[in-house]
Amino acid sequence: MAEAIVTDKLSKSYGKFLALDSLDMEVRVGEVYGFLGPNGAGKTTTIRLLLDVLRPSGGSARVLGLDPKNDNVELLRRIGYLPGDFVVDGRQSPRQYLTYLGNLRGGVAALAVETLADRLSLDLDLQIGSLSKGNRQKVGLVQAFMHEPELLVLDEPTSGLDPLMAREFLALVDEAREAGQTVFMSSHILSEVQHVADRAAIIREGKLVAVDEVEELRARAMRRVQVTFDRDVPGDAFASIDGVTDVVVQENTLHCRLVGNADGLVKAASRFTVVDFISEEPDLEELFFHYYEGDDHVA
Ligand SMILES: Nc1ncnc2c1ncn2[C@@H]1O[C@H](COP(=O)(O)OP(=O)(O)OP(=O)(O)O)[C@@H](O)[C@H]1O
Ligand SMILES: [Mg+2]
Repeated sequence: MAEAIVTDKLSKSYGKFLALDSLDMEVRVGEVYGFLGPNGAGKTTTIRLLLDVLRPSGGSARVLGLDPKNDNVELLRRIGYLPGDFVVDGRQSPRQYLTYLGNLRGGVAALAVETLADRLSLDLDLQIGSLSKGNRQKVGLVQAFMHEPELLVLDEPTSGLDPLMAREFLALVDEAREAGQTVFMSSHILSEVQHVADRAAIIREGKLVAVDEVEELRARAMRRVQVTFDRDVPGDAFASIDGVTDVVVQENTLHCRLVGNADGLVKAASRFTVVDFISEEPDLEELFFHYYEGDDHVA
C-alpha cells in the first residue's frame, strides 16, 4: 500500500448545496499532508467522509486500503482522529476518559498517556468540564496520538492552543513522521503546516485547487510586509527589488508585497535603521490567485 488515503471524485451535498465537489486526492504512506482552506472550504466535511461520520453523496474513499464504511471498526483502531469539534463528557478526568478509550482500542500503555500529557502540560486529574478550551483540545490530541496509530487525521489540531503548545504539537507530528506514521491535518494557515508538512493541498469552495510540496507553496505565497524606520525614507530605495511589488512609502514606513525570498528586501531595508519589521501571514485567497498566474500546478 503506497497510499494512506485515496479519494475518487468524493462529493458531499447538504441538500442542494455542494460542499465537496469531486475531490481526487492521494496521501502517501509516511508523509505529513496539510489540508488547507479558508472557513467553509470543505475540510471538516472531507475528514468526516474519511472517518464515515458522514456518507458521501458521490464518489468514494479508501483509507489504509480499507472502506471507511465497511471497515470502520478496524479503521478506528488504526487511525488517530481528532474531530474539529472535539467534545467529551465533562464529568470525567482526562485520565478516566483516556483509560476508557485506550481499553476500547485494545489497551494503551499508561506511560504513553503520561508522556503525552506531560509534553502538552495537561493535568490528567482535573474534571474535563473544568478545563479551558485549549486544555480540552490537548485531551483530544492525547487520545489521537496515544495508541501510535498508522494514520493521524487531525481537524484543526492547533485550535485553541497557545503558541508554545502549538510548537510542541508540531514536534509530535515531526516525531510521528520519523516513526513512519502518516499525518493528514487541516488548517487555514499555511505557516502552521509549513514546517512539518511534506505536501499540502488547498481546497476552496469544495474544490481542490492546488497540491504541491509545501516549500513550493510557500515560495509562491504573497505576503504583505510593513517596515518602519527611525526616520523618513525615500521611496525609490525600494523600487525594483526581487519579489517586491506594490511599494508604498509613507514617511517612515514602507508597505509592500513580497513573494518568495526576503533577502533583497532585508538588505535594502538594512541601509536604514529598522525599528520594526512585520511580515503578515499569507492570505490563502491571495495565494490561490498568485498560484495560478501562468502555471500548471493544478491537481
Ligand atoms: N450539516 C450541514 N448542513 C448544511 N451545510 C453544511 C453542514 N455542514 C457543513 N455545511 C456547509 O458546508 C461547507 C463546508 O463546511 P466545512 O465544515 O466542511 O468547512 P471547513 O473547511 O471545515 O471550514 P472551517 O475552516 O470553518 O472549519 C460550508 O459552507 C458549511 O456551511
Ligand atoms: Mg472545519
